[in-house]
Amino acid sequence: MKVIAIDGPAGSGKSTVAQALAARLNLHYLDTGAMYRAVAFAVIHQQIDIHDIEKVIQAAKSLDLQLTQESCVVNGIEATEEIRGQEVTLLVSQVAAVPEVRAEMVKRQRTWAEERNGGVMEGRDIGSVVFPDASLKIYLTASEEVRAQRRAAEIEEGDVASIAADIERRDTVDTQRSASPLMEAEDAIVVDTSEMTLEQVVDHVIELIP
Ligand code: DC
Repeated sequence: MKVIAIDGPAGSGKSTVAQALAARLNLHYLDTGAMYRAVAFAVIHQQIDIHDIEKVIQAAKSLDLQLTQESCVVNGIEATEEIRGQEVTLLVSQVAAVPEVRAEMVKRQRTWAEERNGGVMEGRDIGSVVFPDASLKIYLTASEEVRAQRRAAEIEEGDVASIAADIERRDTVDTQRSASPLMEAEDAIVVDTSEMTLEQVVDHVIELIP
C-alpha cells in the first residue's frame, strides 16, 4: 500500500498540493479535514450542543458521509459549500478535539486507504497517527502572513486580518489538544511553501518519493 501523507496547518497549501500530487501520480485523494468538517456540519444540523459530548460522538459514529474531491453529502444533505462556511469553520476544531470522534474518523481513513491500496491523504495527523508507516510524509508550512493571504484568496470573504486571527485560533486549538495534536511526525520532511509556487512544491515532493 502506498500512502503519501500531507500534513500541516491551515493555509499551508495542503489541499492544492495534495490534489495536484494525486492527479500527477494518478492516485486517489482524501481530504481528512473535510471529514471533521462533515461531523461539525452534522452537529450543527442536528442542533447538538457541542458540550454534549455523548451526542457529538454519536453524530460522528452514525455519520453517513459521501465524500469525493468535488462534493460532500452528509446524512443525505448536500453540504459541499457549507462545510467550508464560517459556522462549520468556527466549530470544527472543537469537534476534532474529541478523542472518540478522532478514533472513528481514523478508522474510516484507514479503511478508505486499504480499499484503494493507498492514496494521497491530507490532514493534521496522517503521518503521525493514521499511517505512521506512510511511504512519504510531508509536513507543509508557510509563514502566518502567507497562510492568511492564501485563505483569504480561497474563500473570498472576510479580511486578511480576521482570517489571520481565525487561523491562529484554530492552530492553537489544533496544536494544544491532547488527542493527537497537530505536529510534525518525527520522520516527516518539512517543506516551507512561503516562497514557492504550487508547481515548485509539487515537483519537489515528487522528487522526494522513495
Ligand atoms: O484542513 P481543514 O482546515 O479543512 O481542517 C478542518 C479542521 O479539522 C482543522 O481545524 C483541524 C481538523 N483536522 C484534524 O484534526 N485532523 C485531520 N487529520 C484533519 C483536520
